[in-house]
Amino acid sequence: MKEQKKKVARSERKVAETPALEFCGREVRELGVGVGTMLGACFVDGRGLNTLARHFISALEPMASNDGISASPTAASDSVFNHLVRAPEDPILGVTVAFNKDPSPVKLNLGVGAYRTEEGKPLVLNVVRKVEQQLINDLSRNKEYIPIVGLADFNKLSAKLIFGADSPAIQENRVTTVQCLSGTGSLRVGGEFLAKHYHHRTIYLPTPTWGNHHKVFNLAGLSVKTYRYYAPATRGLDFEGLLEDLGAAPSGSIILLHACAHNPTGVDPTLEQWEQIRQLIRLKALLPFFDSAYQASLFCGFASGSLDADAQPVRLFVADGGELLLAQSYAKNLGLYGERVGALSIVCKSPDVASRVESQLKLVIRPMFSSPPIHGASIVAAILKDGDLFNEWTIELKAMADRIISMRQQLFDALQSRGTPGDWSHIIKQIGMFTFTGLNAEQVSFMTNEYHIYMTSDGRISMAGLSSKTVPHLADAIHAAVTGGA
Ligand SMILES: Cc1ncc(COP(=O)(O)O)c(C=O)c1O
Repeated sequence: MKEQKKKVARSERKVAETPALEFCGREVRELGVGVGTMLGACFVDGRGLNTLARHFISALEPMASNDGISASPTAASDSVFNHLVRAPEDPILGVTVAFNKDPSPVKLNLGVGAYRTEEGKPLVLNVVRKVEQQLINDLSRNKEYIPIVGLADFNKLSAKLIFGADSPAIQENRVTTVQCLSGTGSLRVGGEFLAKHYHHRTIYLPTPTWGNHHKVFNLAGLSVKTYRYYAPATRGLDFEGLLEDLGAAPSGSIILLHACAHNPTGVDPTLEQWEQIRQLIRLKALLPFFDSAYQASLFCGFASGSLDADAQPVRLFVADGGELLLAQSYAKNLGLYGERVGALSIVCKSPDVASRVESQLKLVIRPMFSSPPIHGASIVAAILKDGDLFNEWTIELKAMADRIISMRQQLFDALQSRGTPGDWSHIIKQIGMFTFTGLNAEQVSFMTNEYHIYMTSDGRISMAGLSSKTVPHLADAIHAAVTGGA
């Protein structure tokens, strides 16, 4: 038996060593064709009898064993995936991959889009821990599938959080909300719904935007175009460019808008500018699709001290009675990143349309992920439903907000004290989790190579990844990069 196996291995090696023989050998092994075909193939191939004989032996040796061991097609041939080339890392998540490989003790990851404590650790909110405990202790709960559209409570409360409890659209039953897999999943479901049922299949994204937007909407079946958003010269909004580009978009086009804390720039329109954008969008019958990944979080509304302030731009659009889509994420504002909790809401003209829209959303969701997960949505619903828990949440948000604001100030001060050339006031002006530093790809790469500081190549840094301890190291690196180090 051992000897037979060796023979099989020997003969297979022989076959593999000669391309022409490999071809013939495969024919026999994989297609199971007879000797006649094999002879034909070898002669057609122009090889002599020698080749034929060698091939004949190697092909028949395994067959000759009658103990059932023969070279299995999969074991003997190459992987059916052998043609694949290695895909590049995701430009955002790849930063963490590179960071993890760096053994330096001073390395710093500012690429990650998640909150970190002053000690650089991920944070689970106390209110989340508390609710999770309650859920575990409640033995009446089960793990049955939830409906295709998700938990009814979660959906209702999510719509209220973004549109406001007194929203006319909610009161008139014109909103349909379906639970999806965080912000990304909500965008994808919305994108596929539009590709299937909306008469215009082009979506306009701001430049720049969160990198995944292009891929999500392309794969959803929409054609992706862009509109001007950021002006590098002022490190602010290119409002004229934005109005011009939206004004030139064909009527009916879909317009993706970051509801607040634009990622990656941290630059948002003022409320007055939002109102102008709204008027233009409605005038041209464009369809707004809001991406709300940071609502009610430290990243926006805390400047005004009001959680509702973050939702103002969205509410402006709802108030005019027009239609819109909105993707909501609870990753950042409740720290539920890995729970994948989010919702897609579609505000419609009438309850009847909303209910038909929902019926079609089910047809998008069912073959995509069948029904959403129960755990994260139960946590969110419990917090949004209960006044005390809701208040606890806002207090924890405030603590996170204060830390981020302090990081902005500390970094700004550190650059000032080093006399770093340039105007760095955008660090304290921009809002949200990120600062769009204005550093170029070469400077970023210098900072990574020389200072072990990791960030996306567009110069975006996560303020949430900084601490009082690491600010001086970052300021040194930026100073060196802009004063000729890079
Ligand atoms: C603008 C924007 N939209 C959507 C998302 C999606 O996040 P998630 O799918 O984790 O909710 C993110 C995450 O970084 C984002 O920044």
